Amino acid sequence: MKQLWGGRFDSDPASLAMNYAESIEADSRMVAEDIWGSEAHAIMLARQEIITEEELRQILKYLELAREEFAQGTRTLKRELEDVHMNVETVLIEGAGKEYGGKLHTARSRNDQVIVDSKLHLRTRLLDVADALAQLRGVLLERATNHTEDVMPGYTHTQHAQPITVGFWLSAYASALARDHERLQGAFNRANTSPLGACALAGTSFPTDRRLVAKLLGFDRVHEHALDLIGARDFVAEALSAMAILMSTLSKLAQETVLYSTYEFRMVELDDAFAFGSSIMPQKKNACLAELARARAGNVFGRLMQVLTMIKGTPIGYNRDVQEDKPPLWEALDCTEATVLVLAGVVSTLELKLERMRELAGANFSTATELANCLVRDHGRPFRESHEIVGNIVGQLCKEGKNFNDVERTGELLREHGIELARDELAAVVDPERVVRAQRSLGSTNPREVQRMIADLSRTLDRDANWSAAARQRIAAAQTHTREIVQRIIEGGSLAECRL
Ligand code: ARG
Repeated sequence: MKQLWGGRFDSDPASLAMNYAESIEADSRMVAEDIWGSEAHAIMLARQEIITEEELRQILKYLELAREEFAQGTRTLKRELEDVHMNVETVLIEGAGKEYGGKLHTARSRNDQVIVDSKLHLRTRLLDVADALAQLRGVLLERATNHTEDVMPGYTHTQHAQPITVGFWLSAYASALARDHERLQGAFNRANTSPLGACALAGTSFPTDRRLVAKLLGFDRVHEHALDLIGARDFVAEALSAMAILMSTLSKLAQETVLYSTYEFRMVELDDAFAFGSSIMPQKKNACLAELARARAGNVFGRLMQVLTMIKGTPIGYNRDVQEDKPPLWEALDCTEATVLVLAGVVSTLELKLERMRELAGANFSTATELANCLVRDHGRPFRESHEIVGNIVGQLCKEGKNFNDVERTGELLREHGIELARDELAAVVDPERVVRAQRSLGSTNPREVQRMIADLSRTLDRDANWSAAARQRIAAAQTHTREIVQRIIEGGSLAECRL
């Protein structure tokens, strides 16, 4: 098939060549975006009197036809036309002839066009990920609120460290995910700039209005420097990096779900709807979703590495290398959104085994630090010395197969170090519930502090959800604005009657 760019060629590309170069699959997600971008461009061309209003009308009419046919599936992207841009332009040229359809590409290049399409699509998909994330954050906070008093072991090195509350544990993820949201928002903001009008790399000698195009497409502002923007894919790397970091947070949550649902821990139990069985072992109830989530962090890291490697060392200006940004970007967006949603399902239905958590919190010396603190506070011992004393006592109790629950024996051992502690007082010092309530520093596991932080995180979540809703609204308003102009022109109206 003769290519629209084929003037200087004596033959069409070999099918081997076209099969290697075409980007139809990745581009198929950007058909509506390509049409919207073309409408905005054509409106601007007419407004600047670079094309006539009649030419605009013909162009918009066939863009409308393209929109309908691609949406209904009566027309699909043709591989032999290389990409979405050539496919859409071909509809115009077939319909309106070169006389009209052939004018759309004035003062535009596929180089700036493809960035418009990607950014328009990325914007919405990043909001989808942010909204899914808001759902997970909401689930974590809601569950955390109900367990600000229930104790569980807190771990360092996956060894019992100090008692914490279940609300503290769950809200820790809500706290981390709030930062992950900020990174998505940052990626959105930096992607939300208009490249159209950079043309191939150097701008154009036509009197274009880049700001008008940016406005019609709902971009925050124009990305001005044509040479910089045309090969820049840092917005892709940044979105992937935000998603990679988010996936790393999710992989920790996934890992804890796997671990805590084992027989050895038994601190949580998966809901049947979010667990899988074995084809041979009838007793199995596997945390497959959490395992897949843990593994799929690797998929997204890989996509980030793929894009960074693609960008690296490319000379400034457009290089065909950058066509390869879309498959990894789409894949990472799909994978991240699905992982967030599936973990929201897992966490919202997870049974928390509070008794078991309480038992473990008291079983393995997690209150030892507080006992050492008590020797400092009430018995005038320097911390290093009290650490040594409590360490000795723990060592001795271990040898005897006992723990702090044997208050009698613990008191005796303290006495050997010259420390008198009344039985009740000692029982209180090694009681996990009392220990969590004794914490008083900013950000600690103290139930009141946890409630305060949950309230704070809930406010942050509301603010983030409002941001996303407002961003969607701006996009929808820009879309409606463009649609209204398109309708009016197609119906025979003139640009002068349009609000621009
Ligand atoms: N499919 C190309 C891409 O994704 C579109 C731009 C092609 N530009 C060119 N000069 N061949 O980057």
